[in-house]
This record gives sequence, structure tokens and C-alpha cells, in this order.
Amino acid sequence: MNFWKQFSPGFTCLAPMEGVTDIAFRQVVAAAARPDIFFTEFTNVNSYISEKGRPNALERLQFLPKEQPIVAQIWGTKPEMFAETAQAVKKLGFSAVDINMGCPDRHVVGTGGGSGLIRTPELAQKIIRATKTAGISTSVKTRLGYTKTDEWRPWLTTILSETPDALTIHLRTKKEMSKVNAHYELVPEIVALKNAISPETVLIINGDIKNPADGQKFIEQGADGLMLGRAVFQNPFCFEKNPTTHTRDELISLMRLHIDLYQKYGFAPYDPLKRFFKIYINNFPGASEIREKLMQTRAIPEAIAVLDEMEAAQ
Ligand SMILES: Cc1cc2nc3c(=O)[nH]c(=O)nc-3n(C[C@H](O)[C@H](O)[C@H](O)COP(=O)(O)O)c2cc1C
Repeated sequence: MNFWKQFSPGFTCLAPMEGVTDIAFRQVVAAAARPDIFFTEFTNVNSYISEKGRPNALERLQFLPKEQPIVAQIWGTKPEMFAETAQAVKKLGFSAVDINMGCPDRHVVGTGGGSGLIRTPELAQKIIRATKTAGISTSVKTRLGYTKTDEWRPWLTTILSETPDALTIHLRTKKEMSKVNAHYELVPEIVALKNAISPETVLIINGDIKNPADGQKFIEQGADGLMLGRAVFQNPFCFEKNPTTHTRDELISLMRLHIDLYQKYGFAPYDPLKRFFKIYINNFPGASEIREKLMQTRAIPEAIAVLDEMEAAQ
């Protein structure tokens, strides 16, 4: 059964983001305005397979039942490890598994994984086949190509000929990283290719989409769903179906929730949490001074003291 078929056109997903979309932040997004589908950060299959790496892999794969539907994203280069990890993902109760074939990070690409797989299409195909053997709905997230945009046609033909249940296309090449505008002009041709090769594959568009209304044009062009990543940094309420304005107090309460959850799940050290503060301390008078104060803090109680002081001063 194709998990992806149950959603109406225009459905939304929170993009998988390493170091960002962990169990704590996903709950913050859910409290603000949840997408239809969550994705985990990517988890390395070698890490899951090895005894030493497994605790870390399982930490990345933790989720709450109320987060469902949630998709686990995995990456690596060894088909048999994908099969085994996908079985584990299924046992853990995820709705589906997604294969990362788009990460441009040099450490990932250096192993041949992520967008490195664009250069080894036969291996990419073997990985899809192996993952499918686990009997869980299997999708792929990738880019247009490695160096040139016109690689998209042969590359997506390779992927679609394996009939994944869904395909998320980030409309840039690996080389482009996130430095140029997403190639929106290619959407109609990608839809046509998908319909010609694998009409049952659900197509999800990704790249610079700010909110569901902003992506509606792709749905009108025949895509099925939208994936938003960095939009959530500008506006944690970006998944709202009917956007409204939000108060400073609402943003602060999301930040307090994030801090609570960060502690609750035992995440450490403190500094990575600071990167999130600009999401909440934004777009209100005096925000930049408060942000500066928060950047000087060295532990959670100090950050809470800054928030308390700000709220007491109003
Ligand atoms: C901090 C960060 C971490 C990311 N980690 C992942 C990841 O683990 N897996 C993945 O497929 N893409 C990852 N991406 C890429 C996003 O999923 C998405 O494709 C990209 O940000 C473009 O979409 P956007 O313009 O909506 O942000 C990451 C992006 C960012 C900014």
C-alpha cells in the first residue's frame, strides 16, 4: 500500500533537516502549525547497523505517536544495510521510509552517499530495490543533478524507473547547494516525465517555498505535495492553512517549549540550541537586543532569565 496516496493534492511536509528536525523541534512546529507529514533528520544506515552507532541512530529515530504520520529518512551506500535499517524503521512504527539522494555535504558525498549517488545511478537503483524489500512505503528525496541542471532528465528517469512511492525533488543541483534560485520552470516537465514513467509515484516539490499558498502553483501544474524546510526559520507558523499574524508572546511561548523539550530529551551541549533562538526572537521591537543577550548566554537557566527579564519589563 502506498502511504503517500492517502493525502489530498497540496499536502505539506516538513523537510528533513539535520541538526534541526529532531523530536524536540518537530513538537514545536506541531504546536505552532503542523504540516501533514513530518520527516526525521537523516540517519546513517552504517550507524544503525553497527553496535557502536546504534544508540545514536535510535536517538535520531525517536518520535511520539502523536507526530504520525512521520517518515524516517536514511542515507548510506550499502543496499543490504538499507534493507536492514528499513526493516527497523518499519518495526519502530514509522509510516514510511525515505532515501536521501540529495545531501551535498562533502563528508556525506565523500562516502558516495547523499547526492553522491547521482553519480552512481546503478547503485542508487539497487538501494531503492533493497529498501523496498522491507515492505514499508519507500520514497526518494533528491536534487536535479550533480553539476548541471540538464542532468535532471536521465537522473530522474533512473529513479522513477524503480517506481518509488514518492519522489521529492529539491529543484537545484548538488553544485548549486542553496545558492541560486530553485528551478521552478522545470516543474511541468518533471511532472510529465513522472507521469510517463511512473504515474503512481507521488511528486513532492521542494526549494524556497514559503508557505502552502506559495507552492499552490506547483499543484496546479500537476505536482502532488509541497515540502518546506527553511521557511520554518522565518516563520514557525508557516504551515498554517489560513495565515494569521502572531504575537511576541506566542513566539516566546514556542521558545520556552523548545527549551523545555531540549532538556526533557537530554539534548546537549547547550550551544546548538542557541541557533534556534532567532526563529522566536524576531519581528518585534527590541528583538535584536534580546537576541544579542541570548547569544551571550552559556546555559539554559541564563536564557530563561533573559526571557523572564524581558517579559517582566513589559
Ligand atoms: C540545516 C539543514 C539541514 C538539512 N538536512 C537535510 C537532511 O538531513 N536530509 C535531507 O534530505 N535534506 C536536508 N536538508 C535539505 C532540506 O531538506 C531542503 O531540501 C532544502 O533546505 C531546500 O528546501 P527549503 O528551501 O524549503 O529549505 C537540510 C537543509 C538544511 C538547511
